[in-house]
Amino acid sequence: MHTLDDIKDLLQSCENEDDFARLQARALETTLQHVGPEIHFRGLIEFSNVCSRDCFYCGIRKSNKKIQRYSLSQEEIVELAKWSAQEGYGSIALQSGERCDPVFVDFVIEVLRQIKSETRSELLPDGLGITLCVGEQTKETYQRFFDAGAHRYLLRIETTSPSLFAQIHPTEQHLHTRLRSLEFLKEIGYQVGTGVMIGLPGQTYEDLARDVLFFRDIDIDMIGMGPYLSHHDTPMSRYAEENNRNRLLIFRKSLAMIAATRIVCPKINIAATTALQTIDPAGRIDGLRFGANVLMPQTTPPGFRRNYLLYEGKPGLDENALETRLNLERQIESIGRYVSKNKWGDSLRFHEKHPQSPDSPSGK
Ligand code: 5AD
Repeated sequence: MHTLDDIKDLLQSCENEDDFARLQARALETTLQHVGPEIHFRGLIEFSNVCSRDCFYCGIRKSNKKIQRYSLSQEEIVELAKWSAQEGYGSIALQSGERCDPVFVDFVIEVLRQIKSETRSELLPDGLGITLCVGEQTKETYQRFFDAGAHRYLLRIETTSPSLFAQIHPTEQHLHTRLRSLEFLKEIGYQVGTGVMIGLPGQTYEDLARDVLFFRDIDIDMIGMGPYLSHHDTPMSRYAEENNRNRLLIFRKSLAMIAATRIVCPKINIAATTALQTIDPAGRIDGLRFGANVLMPQTTPPGFRRNYLLYEGKPGLDENALETRLNLERQIESIGRYVSKNKWGDSLRFHEKHPQSPDSPSGK
């Protein structure tokens, strides 16, 4: 059983070349042993940047009047989903700003139903696997999304430090409501994902080590996490200089967080996020080398990508979805791994916990 100090040590190894190389080797070995060389793709559909929240770090926060708000239509989203299925992705991630009004909730439900019914095929008898990522909702809403076909849900905790959480969110947002939401999702039967931002102002190695212990203690199924990158139209832009100065260290800390999480929770799915690639063009591939096994290539049409900037410098704004995929596949093959095709790519940890849950014939 890893202690807080063990994890702190793992994380701190990002400050020394030899220790960092050893951490990478250990994380990669653990990955290959427990989840294998396969990488699972999820076609990422950022279907709307309309948001009712005002998180101090995020570029699509409600108070940012400088961006153009968009919402894809049901037809557009379904087309992107079908494209993902044709490409062999097996799964998609549907992501948007947070809204909980009935019009939005009903819309998402209709979208889920249509995607499930229109992506069934011989290769995917149960249609695409769907990960939903639309923030905090009531338990009833989570249940309705689940019944409509979402079977995985991502809700980042951002940080488990109560003081840090309070510092980066408006007073009406609470750590305990996020925690309760994660509980609801688990009770309903979702594969549940969470994650944190790395390199927040004032965040210590101890804070990050506690985040990893939290992932273990709630027995999480999936993780998506990455560096905090400042955005100029947010209240936290006052830390921009510090954030820019420390980018290299924040990048290495993020890789160390992936590695430590893989070592502590060996059978979960861990995504190498776009934010890593923002700091270094090979960042997502580094994420895979340090223990990640999931990638979420963007399918959002280039015209809309510009308005889904949670942080500055997001890469791939002009690339189309096919180019995005081919680029990634080439890089994955160059590190001796490969991309799974036409499989949901579920969390092995989830199926280990729930051996009775109906296995999809389209593969876990
Ligand atoms: N830098 C890095 N990650 C960010 N997110 C939002 N804003 C930023 C930022 N400036 C992350 C949060 C959120 C997810 C959708 O994107 O963790 O949960």
